[in-house]
Amino acid sequence: MASVSVLGLGAMGSRMAVNLTKAGHAVTVWSRDPDKAGRLSASGATRASSPRAAATGADVVIAMVRDDIASRAVWLEASTGALAGMSRDAIAIESSTLSVNWVRTLGMAAANSGIAFLDAPVAGSRPQAEAGQLIYFVGGDASVLARALPVLNAMGSAVHHAGAPGSGAGVKLLVNAMFGIQLAALGELIGLAKNMGLDTANVIDILESTPVCSPAAKLAASAMLAGNFAPLFPIELVVKDFGYVVEGARAVGARIPTSTAAHRIFAEAVSSGLGDDHITGVAKLFAEVRFEAAGGDSVSSLTEGS
Ligand SMILES: NC(=O)c1ccc[n+]([C@@H]2O[C@H](COP(=O)([O-])OP(=O)(O)OC[C@H]3O[C@@H](n4cnc5c(N)ncnc54)[C@H](OP(=O)(O)O)[C@@H]3O)[C@@H](O)[C@H]2O)c1
Repeated sequence: MASVSVLGLGAMGSRMAVNLTKAGHAVTVWSRDPDKAGRLSASGATRASSPRAAATGADVVIAMVRDDIASRAVWLEASTGALAGMSRDAIAIESSTLSVNWVRTLGMAAANSGIAFLDAPVAGSRPQAEAGQLIYFVGGDASVLARALPVLNAMGSAVHHAGAPGSGAGVKLLVNAMFGIQLAALGELIGLAKNMGLDTANVIDILESTPVCSPAAKLAASAMLAGNFAPLFPIELVVKDFGYVVEGARAVGARIPTSTAAHRIFAEAVSSGLGDDHITGVAKLFAEVRFEAAGGDSVSSLTEGS
């Protein structure tokens, strides 16, 4: 069993840390909010006062924080960053969903310090994190991944080696874009079905039975119909991730009109006060039934209960 430190105890990191303790690893935790670290003590984890204190003596250090800014702070901050506290034979694992550019920069910083590095973001939300069924997309050296596998297996049910450092981050952003584009389209089309006066529940039943509907879209369609928007993957994180997709595409001059449109739609959802909703909440943007007057000037609307 390994000595594993977890930095960041939000919705995902807290559940991952619990599974590491259940698997028998010696777990040390750090969180910006000390109360969150305190709650993990009940599961057998040891609290550390800073990322550096958590990293000192650990075999594996895992970060699961919000964004690039948080990642930079926990790994590289001058007096408290984890990287400078790590042993030369330890492994640094960045599991947050981050921009490819930042992850490559972080990987180089680790290499310059002689520390083995993996980017290992995950697919799956709170239920999968709790059940130890996350899907890992890993960038980095295959031999380092082989050493880290017993630790990743305590939190996930599948591990995909994506390639060089930064590849895990890249695959994760593509997977999230695929998911977000589908759900934006689904919300829009359910709204269209309502506007066309179709029986929405029946439309969804039929849609779900066809090969064009992915398993993820099936689950989301049922949640949208049931009005289930309890936050698992909140829209404000979806916008953060699409921001990294757009930024990454701009850096390499790639055309991504569909992802750009989805980014705008989820940003509009945040502006409409839906940032804390689960990603399915995007459907609320299209929930109104509109009857356009013949002249096109006046639009009257009513909200249909679903
Ligand atoms: N939720 C999902 O379904 C899901 C699924 C897959 C991947 N992810 C990704 O996994 C990561 C964590 O997600 P989550 O759902 O656990 O988010 P969360 O509940 O919002 O937790 C974010 C964590 O980051 C910490 N943090 C934020 N800014 C920080 C800073 N400047 N310095 C240090 N710590 C900072 C927060 O600390 P405080 O507690 O002090 O605010 C918190 O512990 C994100 O990158 C997210 O995109 C999420």
